[in-house]
Amino acid sequence: MGDLLVAPYNDLATAERLIADRARELAAVILDPVQRAILADPAFVRGLRAVTARCGVPLVFDEVVSGFRIALGGAVEHYGVVPDLVAFGKALGGGAPVAVVGGRAGSTCSKPPARTTVCGPSAIGSVPGSPR
Ligand SMILES: Cc1ncc(COP(=O)(O)O)c(C=O)c1O
Repeated sequence: MGDLLVAPYNDLATAERLIADRARELAAVILDPVQRAILADPAFVRGLRAVTARCGVPLVFDEVVSGFRIALGGAVEHYGVVPDLVAFGKALGGGAPVAVVGGRAGSTCSKPPARTTVCGPSAIGSVPGSPR
């Protein structure tokens, strides 16, 4: 894995600056929409969608915690914001080791990542945790 850049959670101005300044180096921006007791600010989520779209950087929602909890459709439904990729984990399997990654066909995320930005603390174990 390449470098990770971490932006403070719910600080849109800092995240926007980081993403715009480093857009050419970024493989993706990953958002964990629920930091346990802290929900992402709707303006933060919408702003991340806007800046990543403007800068051509894929936006990924890690829905391992938010999926099926804040809404049946997870953060995508709750915020009404559609990322380029979503990752669902443990809650999906109800204890079974299952995970799902979803996205649009032909997504730019099909390229292997060179670098990744994480907006807010986030674990990236959900994708490797999926059955092979
Ligand atoms: C937000 C988030 N993403 C990813 C993971 C990793 O999930 P797994 O252990 O199923 O790979 C966790 C683990 O708790 C998590 O809380």
